[in-house]
Amino acid sequence: MKIGILTSGGDCPGLNAVIRAIVRKSDQMKFETIGIKNGWKGIFDESYIQLNLSSVAGIINRGGTILGTSRFSPFQEKEGKDTLLHKISKEGFDALIAIGGEGSMHIAQSAHEAGINVVGVPKTIDNDIYGTDYSFGFDTAVGIATEAIDRLHTTAESHHRIMILEVMGRHAGWIALYSGIAGGADVVIIPEKKIKVDDVLEVLKSRYKRGKLFSIIVIAEGASFEELEISKTSTGKKLDDFGRERLGGISTYLAEEIEKRTGFETRSTILGYVQRGGIPSSFDRILGTRLGVYAVGMINSGKFGRMCALQGNEITDITIKKAISKLKTVDLDIYKVAQVFFK
Ligand code: F6P
Repeated sequence: MKIGILTSGGDCPGLNAVIRAIVRKSDQMKFETIGIKNGWKGIFDESYIQLNLSSVAGIINRGGTILGTSRFSPFQEKEGKDTLLHKISKEGFDALIAIGGEGSMHIAQSAHEAGINVVGVPKTIDNDIYGTDYSFGFDTAVGIATEAIDRLHTTAESHHRIMILEVMGRHAGWIALYSGIAGGADVVIIPEKKIKVDDVLEVLKSRYKRGKLFSIIVIAEGASFEELEISKTSTGKKLDDFGRERLGGISTYLAEEIEKRTGFETRSTILGYVQRGGIPSSFDRILGTRLGVYAVGMINSGKFGRMCALQGNEITDITIKKAISKLKTVDLDIYKVAQVFFK
């Protein structure tokens, strides 16, 4: 059995733990493992690397992906499907393991429909892949965002300022919500729950009346406000290779509005790629390892066109088709927990 492994889409902490687990489990099963460089593009470029025990030694704690990644989509290329099928049979791959987020799972589904033996492993710091309770990378990102809130807290308090932290989260506000609860934020703003700038001002003013001269706001990059027709976060931004607008900047808009309407001194911080880089948390290493081992078992059982997933504390699998049928947005019951502290 010859397995090709690729990582596709934005990187995230825990990818190397998955790659290591796939290679170690494959070694146990006497399967051959080939790393495909830079996502699906590596198949087109025939850019491969033999993976063995020594090539995955010492990588469980490394951020990023030793294979490199890209947002290349074979099916958007001219004669892309034929090229993909030709290159896969030329290399003699019996199966592929595609580690990626929602965009990459769409590609995996098309590959499956084209007759390629593919297994998906869900990855994203945004935690928005349907069918898995958590995706690895998310826990690390929440930890980094929580630390950022802790640090903003002390400077906010010293300067009597409003501090806004903008975190990643294109369609789902999981990172904002979890880090906001963990960091004791006074307001959390997520894409799933549109509010008005006035709602934020109400909280800030009521805190001010209670003698709280500083406040912490956490906002997801994909969030917007009821009064904004076009999302300020995306206006004029370039598209990425998956055709999605680049996000970032809603916190700057909010900071300006707060200062203009209240006179409260306000600063915004965009956390950006810091929350996606660096060492994975132990939770993400364990989740990545469990998924990697499980994915090899799926190949052994011929469970193609399926994605492994964490449900409760069990690793299981669902069809990739189901996983891409919708996004896993924030559980509004958890948002209600955060709301208790918006005053
Ligand atoms: O998809 C995950 C994500 O972290 C999004 O939250 C963010 O919008 C996007 O990646 C940005 O990544 P890049 O700049 O690499 O396209």
